Amino acid sequence: MERFAPLLEAWPGEHVIIRFDASTGAWIFIAIHSSRRGVPTGGTRYRVYARPDDGVEDALRLAAAMTLKWAVAGLPRGGAKAVIAAQLGLEREEREGLMVRYGELVDSLRGGFQTGPDLGTTSLDMDLIRRRTGYVSGHSRSLGGAGDPAPFTALGILFGLRACVEHVFGSDRLAGRSVLVQGAGSVGGALIDLLKRSSAVVVATDADPERRASLAASGITVVEPEEAYDQPCDLFSPCAVGGVLDERTIPRLRCRIVAGAANNPLASPEDARRLEQRGILYAPDFVINAGGAIALVGMEHMGLSKMQVEERLRGIGATLREIFSRAKSEGISAEEAATRLAQERLAQPIERDAS
Ligand code: PHE
Repeated sequence: MERFAPLLEAWPGEHVIIRFDASTGAWIFIAIHSSRRGVPTGGTRYRVYARPDDGVEDALRLAAAMTLKWAVAGLPRGGAKAVIAAQLGLEREEREGLMVRYGELVDSLRGGFQTGPDLGTTSLDMDLIRRRTGYVSGHSRSLGGAGDPAPFTALGILFGLRACVEHVFGSDRLAGRSVLVQGAGSVGGALIDLLKRSSAVVVATDADPERRASLAASGITVVEPEEAYDQPCDLFSPCAVGGVLDERTIPRLRCRIVAGAANNPLASPEDARRLEQRGILYAPDFVINAGGAIALVGMEHMGLSKMQVEERLRGIGATLREIFSRAKSEGISAEEAATRLAQERLAQPIERDAS
């Protein structure tokens, strides 16, 4: 736990709420990065970490990425994220109790933080949180929520992949393109379905051996997690945890494009340069994976229909095209071009939604 203090002190955000849930041994971190453009909003991640410090670090990085995500998506929200760093193997009732208590914590912030699903949580968790607070999105449709945002995230990724393929190969057709999907959870799984419908050649991997077996049973080519980096493909699509691309894995990639749903897939900012030096196009995560965020705020707070949301998701492809051409003309990486775009938007006057 000795890294808590230096991590928090070096962080350029606003504040962090830390709660230790004694009955389950879980740590809860709510990182509020920025309230400048609106209510700090971000998903709740549920994960087992080697050390609680790793959970804090994840929360801080994820919250900062949310600020950029909202700015590029043009939505009046601020960046935030929550991480529940849980113990391994909680019983169902223990986890449910934890979620309800977490809902109380969120409610105690009186609208200073709005949450929704993220890696390791689903609409059912949001329903539990909702027993204690209204500051939650992505709860079940039967309870008036927008439901699982994952299919929207996946659709946004699909539009983004088309823009990438067009930039590299001159046509946005995915038919016949090979895509390695790393992580077949709620977003990765939905993306695999969309890719199959586009006649792309899908190879998948997942950290969970049972999930790998069921993917294989459904006719998808499956590789072991560690083999994924060496797999020849057109696109490598990280759709699970962050920090997977670093000085060890980037030299092994045999793809032309890295574009996926994972937040913070690059271990460090230098990894954007490493990819560029290898001639690999990188779609900045906070641009391409904004579909879920856009859908939740769009449907629950702006009254957009599913079709209007889909139209906005198409915009992810347009934004990426703009970023790629800016990167080219300014001689910078796509990651830098996207960060500049976000910073320009952050500096603009704010238009708030009704929520
Ligand atoms: N967790 C998803 C993301 O990182 C979707 C989400 C966005 C959930 C905003 C809640 C709030 O974009």
